[in-house]
Amino acid sequence: MKAAIAAAKLGDDVYGDDPSVNALQEKSATLLGKDAALFMSSGTQSNLCAMLAHCQRGEEILCGDTYHVFCDEAGGASVLGGVMFSPMPTNENGGLNPDDIDKNVKPDDAHYAISKMLSLENTNKGNTQSVEEITNLANRAHKYNLMVHLDGARLMNATVKLGVNPKDMLAEIDSVSLCLSKGLGAPAGSILAGPEKFIKRAHRIRKLLGGGMRQAGLLAAAGTYALDNNIQRLAEDHKNAIKLAEGLSLIKGINVNLEKVNTNMVYASFEQGTALKLRKHLASKNIYISAYLGDDTVRLVTHLDCREPEIDLFISELKSFLN
Ligand SMILES: Cc1ncc(COP(=O)(O)O)c(C=O)c1O
Repeated sequence: MKAAIAAAKLGDDVYGDDPSVNALQEKSATLLGKDAALFMSSGTQSNLCAMLAHCQRGEEILCGDTYHVFCDEAGGASVLGGVMFSPMPTNENGGLNPDDIDKNVKPDDAHYAISKMLSLENTNKGNTQSVEEITNLANRAHKYNLMVHLDGARLMNATVKLGVNPKDMLAEIDSVSLCLSKGLGAPAGSILAGPEKFIKRAHRIRKLLGGGMRQAGLLAAAGTYALDNNIQRLAEDHKNAIKLAEGLSLIKGINVNLEKVNTNMVYASFEQGTALKLRKHLASKNIYISAYLGDDTVRLVTHLDCREPEIDLFISELKSFLN
């Protein structure tokens, strides 16, 4: 990837003439089966541009109550766009019940915000939703003329796991965001894809947000390398997540639901008050985990730089800490 970055042909992407950015955008649009694609600095920026491109002030976005757009993006669409969220219960798979769309779409009544968009997320907390589930939800939302966005930060984990073509997953989806960082291994960057007119609008909003980058081809080359080389290998991360979960399940004091390990994420629960102490102990061994005060369930993610040797080391450190 570093060699691809070093060899990248560059231009000024604010003028649309960086060949590496253009090549990445074309490749991504083809991969995702959409008319056009735009390179973004992050998943948050990509989702925000999508929400602001689809919605006006006084409109609302239906989404899952655990979704990143609602919980983890600083309320960007509300703060910057005057757009409300209407969160709905998220099920075990991270999916939504289509009947909840019927219940949440507002009637044409001056009391209410105008329902404009449905935002889906796949994978959600490592769980996959099938092509059929995603398509059913999109079709239901389209009955009400909602635009449908998919936050596919880890879409490729879902499609690799399910063995489906991303285009089939996205056939009824209007816009999609895909992270090139995270499991795909690029240092930064996401892709927003959708119809030509929508991408033109998102391009203006990206500029407004200060997201126009000049010789962005350095990053785009990493993204292209990620798409060419790092998609199918996600299956290895999924296999490693099962190995990690199985190893953890044998340690006293850790609770892991093996059936909930679908892609690259493992949720491990510890006895009350343990997770923060564990974080401190592991940090002293140069192993870093996220653990927060009052929450003894820790999310562990396998990726390019966390493979079998790192998992073996992690498990042995946990054993020595807990025994
Ligand atoms: C589902 C989901 N969407 C969007 C994002 C945002 O991506 P970024 O961190 O690149 O802004 C994340 C980040 O973890 C995520 O998990």
